[in-house]
Amino acid sequence: MNSKHQYVELNDGHFIPRLGFGTYKPQEVPNSKTIEATKIAIEAGFRHIDCAYAYQVEEEVGLAIRSKIADGTVKREDIFYTSKLWSTFHRPELVQSCLEKSLKKLNFDYVDLYLIHSPMELKPGEELFPKDENGKTIYDHVDLCAVWEAMEKCKDAGLAKSIGVSNFNRRQLEMILNKPGLKYKPVCNQVECHVYHNQRKLLDFCKSKNIVLVAYGALGTQRDKQWVDQSSPVLLDDPVLGALAKKHKRSPALIALRYQLQRGVVVLAQSFKENEIKENIQVFDFELTAEDMKDLDDLNRNYRYLAAEFGADHPNYPFADEY
Ligand SMILES: NC(=O)c1ccc[n+]([C@@H]2O[C@H](COP(=O)([O-])OP(=O)(O)OC[C@H]3O[C@@H](n4cnc5c(N)ncnc54)[C@H](OP(=O)(O)O)[C@@H]3O)[C@@H](O)[C@H]2O)c1
Repeated sequence: MNSKHQYVELNDGHFIPRLGFGTYKPQEVPNSKTIEATKIAIEAGFRHIDCAYAYQVEEEVGLAIRSKIADGTVKREDIFYTSKLWSTFHRPELVQSCLEKSLKKLNFDYVDLYLIHSPMELKPGEELFPKDENGKTIYDHVDLCAVWEAMEKCKDAGLAKSIGVSNFNRRQLEMILNKPGLKYKPVCNQVECHVYHNQRKLLDFCKSKNIVLVAYGALGTQRDKQWVDQSSPVLLDDPVLGALAKKHKRSPALIALRYQLQRGVVVLAQSFKENEIKENIQVFDFELTAEDMKDLDDLNRNYRYLAAEFGADHPNYPFADEY
């Protein structure tokens, strides 16, 4: 176990590293970049790797992790690997097959954490985003509690050590928590979370239920043209982040990551650049003051980079509720 890393105990007794490496990549980036970046991340000390069936890079991420196991840098049990159930596999009879496809690509026996990627189920089939003849995404209708029961079976089968959700709002979390016969609580809710959308209320709710909030987009996302409005503000250019970076002699990125750690959030950071990857692991080496934290809290404007507008009229669209 890497001593540089701090861990948080999940509500099922497993431990998650507080900093994770993100592996989403825009379509135009070659898959080989993922292999290279994941290896660099492990060499730099990252032990938590966040991926998903839908990212279509699990083969590359698996290859990178297995090569770092083969060369003795880590053991499988040192790595905390997250995958996610894609929305076209929500029907209970399909859930385990999505996980098995991921495991096969990874060449792993288990994942450490398996998440429902989104509460918005889509029509089953080969396409990640099935569309009708008018280009509209085709939805499906599955009770989220039934999806959760299938997730519980994946844990019981030993294919996932822990199970959780992503992009769920409070109402959807409560639906699972109040499910009659609930066997396992979600260990976490992975959501967009950064200084422009700090998720204060959702974080407080999650803490009250012993659910860890995992932050994605903490650095303002990769601004992928497919999903992010290119005229949106560039998070790391924010003057308050800049001033605190100067004060602490760190980068704005490190300030943005450190902010999450100090409020009890597990944080993901993505980069393909060696210098950035090596820098991001230094988030454990300094501390923000209470005043710095307050200045960062004040930046909140409930701004979402990834609003998943394609699903705005989906019955389970999570982002219409206040939180
Ligand atoms: N559950 C979900 O629905 C969901 C959704 C989105 C993401 N995620 C997960 O969360 C991960 C992270 O989110 P994200 O990929 O959207 O991006 P992010 O981590 O918010 O931001 C990544 C960008 O920040 C920049 N960056 C990273 N380190 C830096 C540094 N030290 N200094 C300056 N700039 C730095 C990089 O840009 P440059 O390369 O241009 O420098 C990089 O493209 C994803 O990879 C994925 O694993 C999950």
